Amino acid sequence: MSTSELDQLRQENNQLRLALVEMRQQLMQAQKLTSVGALASSITHEFNNILMTVINYAKMGLRHKEPATRDKAFDRILSAGHRAAKITTGMLSYARGKTTQREAFRLSQLVEDVLILVEKDLQVHRIRLEKNFDENVWAEVNSGQIQQVLINLIINARQAMDGGGSLHIGVSLNRESNTSEITVRDTGSGIPADKLPRIFDQFFSTKTPDEQGQGGSGLGLALCKEIIDTHRGRIRVESTVGRGTTFTLRFPMIPAPTLVRPSVTQKAG
Ligand SMILES: Nc1ncnc2c1ncn2[C@@H]1O[C@H](COP(=O)(O)OP(=O)(O)OP(=O)(O)O)[C@@H](O)[C@H]1O
Ligand SMILES: [Mg+2]
Repeated sequence: MSTSELDQLRQENNQLRLALVEMRQQLMQAQKLTSVGALASSITHEFNNILMTVINYAKMGLRHKEPATRDKAFDRILSAGHRAAKITTGMLSYARGKTTQREAFRLSQLVEDVLILVEKDLQVHRIRLEKNFDENVWAEVNSGQIQQVLINLIINARQAMDGGGSLHIGVSLNRESNTSEITVRDTGSGIPADKLPRIFDQFFSTKTPDEQGQGGSGLGLALCKEIIDTHRGRIRVESTVGRGTTFTLRFPMIPAPTLVRPSVTQKAG
């Protein structure tokens, strides 16, 4: 092969590689929007509830002239407004966020941000939420990507608990392996041993799409694994049929950033 042919092949190879990177990013973003879609209906319901609260307390404030009753009405309207703002901000930053940067994050805060988006969905599906957070657990993460992982794990857990159940989310330090960990444990159907080795494969799914066409593409866990791999982390699964499933995310542990990088302390709050 001549040098110029070789050069051309090299060039084409580079172009293909760039196109692949671009397509992977697009796929990740498309999958993210799918998970937003899975939460859209419960969030719309929650907004409706918030609006009812605002309308009813506004009516009460208009009807009653005593300052104490009016103050109470304003308080309720204000906190309903704050809750709505929290949800929209969370939703927008999740759907838009495409940062490639990693920053030191308090993992419990990251999980709380996700819970704002999924709480109602879990409630609607009669799933009790249990939390056990160690507040001093930090990791260097791309927050949008890790939120995407958590939302995928939580939606999978909810789909595995058809008749309700409980979802336990934990944040802890593993001093043996020097890792910061997030665990997502459900009391759902569990995964048969013969399927377990394939769940992280692209397009492996045991589900059929629901009425809204949600679910069943088999991309969720494949993307979770890809994201965790790029963080030099680990994703592990343990499951017992009929008892439930636990996913564990492990990240290299870092100390609270006040000690190492004063510039990110505003994230500590
Ligand atoms: N918590 C869980 N409990 C039981 N089975 C699970 C759980 N999480 C994943 N699975 C199994 O792993 C398979 C692959 O999951 P994955 O999230 O990759 O795809 P999916 O949920 O089927 O489709 P998508 O996430 O693309 O909508 C699921 O179809 C299901 O069989
Ligand atoms: Mg899934």
